[in-house]
Amino acid sequence: MRFEALSVFPEVFSPYLDASIMGRAQRSGVFSFEAYDLRDWTHDRHRTVDDAPFGGGQGMLMKPAPIFEALDELSLNGSSSPHVVFFSPCGQRFDQRVAERLATKERILFVCGRYEGIDERVYTLADDVLSIGDYVLTGGELAALVVMDAVVRLLPGALGDELSAVDESFSSEGLLEYAQYTRPASYRGMDVPEVLLSGDHAKVREWRRRNALERTALWRPDLLESARLTDEERLFAQDVLRSDGDDRHE
Ligand code: ADE
Repeated sequence: MRFEALSVFPEVFSPYLDASIMGRAQRSGVFSFEAYDLRDWTHDRHRTVDDAPFGGGQGMLMKPAPIFEALDELSLNGSSSPHVVFFSPCGQRFDQRVAERLATKERILFVCGRYEGIDERVYTLADDVLSIGDYVLTGGELAALVVMDAVVRLLPGALGDELSAVDESFSSEGLLEYAQYTRPASYRGMDVPEVLLSGDHAKVREWRRRNALERTALWRPDLLESARLTDEERLFAQDVLRSDGDDRHE
């Protein structure tokens, strides 16, 4: 996988991407990354990338020309044309399904806006416009890092243990992940559930599934609708939901 980012702060990416799992994945060739400075596609002495909005209003907008020209040039580089991703609070909500879809691409170019927004005509260049949540960031750089992180850990060889990307919240039939514990078995009066110490793998599997169902019903009931559940599991989840409601009204 090749990632590229177009930004007026191209230096912000490497401290994160060169560290830890992302750094190791990069060094072992799972992905490569290059950031480009949008100002390299300006033609004035001040390297201007923004301008005031037509119709008036607060703030500055990113001008179309530098972004169009950068994409003209960058699209011609390399063997395949990039999948172009923009960021905006107006975009499609980024989630695990979108991460899985992006993980199938060969080359992704992230366009990171700053200032109050981008000239609307620039979005005609986008293959995807993504939002990482209902809040407003000062720019798309953090959003690009969030997306890269979620995509990289899905790529073969990125995580030491190939299984760990699978058995997790949102991959495991749309449920939140079950609770996990390590030693000691008792800490500050809190005991690890007995069944996890039993060595009975079937019982452990059953406990984890119930625990995942319980947590999802309590914390993210919106996920239950699209989760893959048996009839019995669905009834159990509804029971959890009902008794949580009862608790709150007591
Ligand atoms: N740019 C500004 N806010 C954003 C958000 N919530 N998601 C993606 N890009 C953004």
